[in-house]
Amino acid sequence: MLSVSLLALGLSFAASASCHLHAPLRTRAIIDASSLADSYDYIVVGGGSAGLVVASILSDNSSVSVLVLEAGQSGDDVAVRRDTPGMTYYNGLGGTSYDWSFSTATQTNLNDRILTWSRGKILGGSGATNGMYYTRPNTIEMNAWAGYLESQDSAGSAKWGWDNFYSVMKSMETWTKPTDAAESVGNIQYDSSVHGTSGPLHSSYPAVELGLVGNWTETCLAAGIQTRTDPHGGENWGAFVSTSSINPTNWTRSYSRSAYIDPLPPRSNLAILPSATVTKIVWGSSDSNGLKATGVSWAASSSSTEQTVNANKEVILAAGVVGSPHIMLLSGVGPSSVLSSVGIDQKLDLPGVGQNVQDHVGAGVSFATTADTLGSIYASNSTYSESTEFLSLINNAIAYVNLTVLMGSGADTWIQTVKNDYNTSTSYLPSTDSTIVSGYETTFKTITETYYASEDPQVEILLSLNSAGTVIIQAALQHPLSRGEITINSTSAFDSPVINPNYFAHWADRDILRAAYKLCRTIGGTAPLSNYLGTESSPGTNVDTDDEWNTWMNSNVHTDYHPIGSMSMLPKDQGGVVDTSLKVYGTSNVRVIDASVIPIEMSSHSGSISFAIGVQGAELIQNPVTSSTSTSSASSHSSSSTSSSGSSPSSSGSGAATLMLPPREAFGVAAIIAVTMLFL
Ligand SMILES: Cc1cc2nc3c(=O)[nH]c(=O)nc-3n(C[C@H](O)[C@H](O)[C@H](O)COP(=O)(O)OP(=O)(O)OC[C@H]3O[C@@H](n4cnc5c(N)ncnc54)[C@H](O)[C@@H]3O)c2cc1C
Ligand SMILES: *[C@@H]1O[C@H](CO)[C@@H](O)[C@H](O)[C@H]1NC(C)=O
Ligand SMILES: *[C@@H]1O[C@H](CO)[C@@H](O)[C@H](O)[C@H]1NC(C)=O
Ligand SMILES: *[C@@H]1O[C@H](CO)[C@@H](O)[C@H](O)[C@H]1NC(C)=O
Ligand SMILES: *[C@@H]1O[C@H](CO)[C@@H](O)[C@H](O)[C@H]1NC(C)=O
Ligand SMILES: *[C@@H]1O[C@H](CO)[C@@H](O)[C@H](O)[C@H]1NC(C)=O
Ligand SMILES: *[C@@H]1O[C@H](CO)[C@@H](O)[C@H](O)[C@H]1NC(C)=O
Ligand SMILES: *[C@@H]1O[C@H](CO)[C@@H](O)[C@H](O)[C@H]1NC(C)=O
Repeated sequence: MLSVSLLALGLSFAASASCHLHAPLRTRAIIDASSLADSYDYIVVGGGSAGLVVASILSDNSSVSVLVLEAGQSGDDVAVRRDTPGMTYYNGLGGTSYDWSFSTATQTNLNDRILTWSRGKILGGSGATNGMYYTRPNTIEMNAWAGYLESQDSAGSAKWGWDNFYSVMKSMETWTKPTDAAESVGNIQYDSSVHGTSGPLHSSYPAVELGLVGNWTETCLAAGIQTRTDPHGGENWGAFVSTSSINPTNWTRSYSRSAYIDPLPPRSNLAILPSATVTKIVWGSSDSNGLKATGVSWAASSSSTEQTVNANKEVILAAGVVGSPHIMLLSGVGPSSVLSSVGIDQKLDLPGVGQNVQDHVGAGVSFATTADTLGSIYASNSTYSESTEFLSLINNAIAYVNLTVLMGSGADTWIQTVKNDYNTSTSYLPSTDSTIVSGYETTFKTITETYYASEDPQVEILLSLNSAGTVIIQAALQHPLSRGEITINSTSAFDSPVINPNYFAHWADRDILRAAYKLCRTIGGTAPLSNYLGTESSPGTNVDTDDEWNTWMNSNVHTDYHPIGSMSMLPKDQGGVVDTSLKVYGTSNVRVIDASVIPIEMSSHSGSISFAIGVQGAELIQNPVTSSTSTSSASSHSSSSTSSSGSSPSSSGSGAATLMLPPREAFGVAAIIAVTMLFL
């Protein structure tokens, strides 16, 4: 079966090389620099999770021209590694040229460690390289976000509240129930009514499941964590087996490119240029609405000539949590201290650019097992291990846990201590700017007054089965009180910005996570899962006191890859960078449409939220909210699409192709290294 597929792959390559009759549809919007026009109506900076969604929807209108400039390559050379779900672990794109592989600044609260920040550098962005968990935030968290601008802009704010965001998230999704085999072995529960049925992005489950996953919800329940039938309807707390970003028609990754770009009919009004790094926004004179962008500068590499391309209407930053503030700072918009430190002329004083950075941080407790894991099956080299079904299998057992489960009857006293400790000379954030401190006070109150005392999840627990012979029960903090920053120490877009997540700057973050690792140990010792687990191999039972756990955490926690907040949607006098229409304060035609606008961490992986920000952003451009009219209810991409150039990306695949695999020899050593990586 494998050799037949390989033969087919070879034949299709040979066919497309020898004649161009069947040029793959997916390359049609992708151009090379020689076909670049002088100007486009919209320039989208960054072709990632949100950027490609925005570009697709805007270009549904054939009278509007859209250019996407993406620093990374197309990814077509690594299509199988990118598209095969399981390959994320065995031969993923982390650490390759498709990863920015940023390093953080020295983390003084973590034994002065320097951590790696993986971010996708490829069409599709981090959504093309990530772990494919597909989750949503909950009602409490979306409504907290919407509340921040409610008093100044109630119509615009309502777009970000749960009700509207829920309909946006449903509109972009086509959910498919699990196969019978996966459902029964994995004990998967679901509620089809909370999912979308006709959106471009697929969410589903792997084709098969492992018995250990089937043990998950029962074990969590026995450990005091309620079971959640389906977390997508606004109540995400509890234990469940999650949906993944999987297209079940061919068991491939579903992400912004495969969902929103590849299925499009040819569109002369959409151009996507890979290997184009935007170096700065080009400013014209200000108009009555503020500083006006006339276009952007970009270059193929640090040694190639910079070129300029003009924007007739808007410049849209979609370069992600690191890239968007980086470009903004290089363009002279940001805190004056940061700009003056590298000698960049300030165009606009916006202290929030690069501030309010928050991330999920975590690690895992490991146990020996003789039961099947992804890693053990993969290492067996069996026929099954090479099947499309097995290679669709990725981790998907989750529990979102509240503070009372973590701290028991001590929770109330602990919360009071955290609140009492707050003062404005706090060292929990790197900036002393009064607007930033004011914004911090706002999100601090949300967390300590609304989240801590409610059912809202404070940690996420994941069952990780990547490794052969090992089960890892991971935990990650969901609502840090620590705030970090992204600044620059160079004026070149080709130098990395300085990333300081400031992990554990607030002691409460460490307290919550420590309680979570104790719970991970408890889960590992609870039946039925405990029947299949042996010795705790890491950290081991010699780590037991609070001090011992703290020491272990300091050397072991790492990013869980969900940074947000560096261009937050908050009031301007609270360090905000964008308003409810995603427009940058003080500019007339620059928006930020990516995960950097999320003002406070959600108890969710950030991928689905980033796609939804893309959909929402495009709709806000096409149908601006006016304060006099009440907000129209969200319309789905497909139904609101005003396409005059043909059909929108549809959920129905054009025939289920069988996924083709490279020879196993091609990924021997990398597999062994990758298996030990924790993908969240
Ligand atoms: C390793 C990893 C695992 C993850 N696992 C999950 C998961 O399992 N589930 C989940 O929901 N989320 C996960 N996430 C998070 C999720 O993928 C991100 O939150 C989401 O993709 C962010 O979307 P974005 O549009 O803001 O940025 P991105 O998708 O990162 O897109 C930004 C794009 O801008 C480009 N860019 C940057 N600078 C420039 C420039 N100067 N010029 C031109 N282009 C530029 C980048 O190359 C990139 O393509 C993971 C992330 C990573 C990195
Ligand atoms: C398409 O874009 C044009 C140019 O901006 C605009 O005039 C027109 O109203 C748009 N069409 C729709 C259906 O939104
Ligand atoms: C628990 O996992 C084991 C090992 O894979 C499996 O045999 C068993 O059926 C699972 N139990 C449940 C309840 O899913
Ligand atoms: C599986 O294949 C890899 C790569 O060829 C090899 O290194 C490994 O020893 C094989 N494992 C088994 C159990 O045969
Ligand atoms: C404010 O917090 C800082 C840092 O935790 C502490 O040193 C200081 O004493 C506190 N000030 C007041 C007035 O509580
Ligand atoms: C926390 O979660 C537990 C179990 O999941 C639940 O019984 C409890 O009511 C929750 N606490 C709050 C405050 O909602
Ligand atoms: C600038 O910051 C980067 C990223 O943190 C770092 O690698 C580099 O050493 C710093 N350069 C200087 C001159 O401080
Ligand atoms: C899987 O199907 C989708 C359409 O549903 C398509 O966009 C994608 O390219 C396919 N992937 C592969 C690798 O064939």
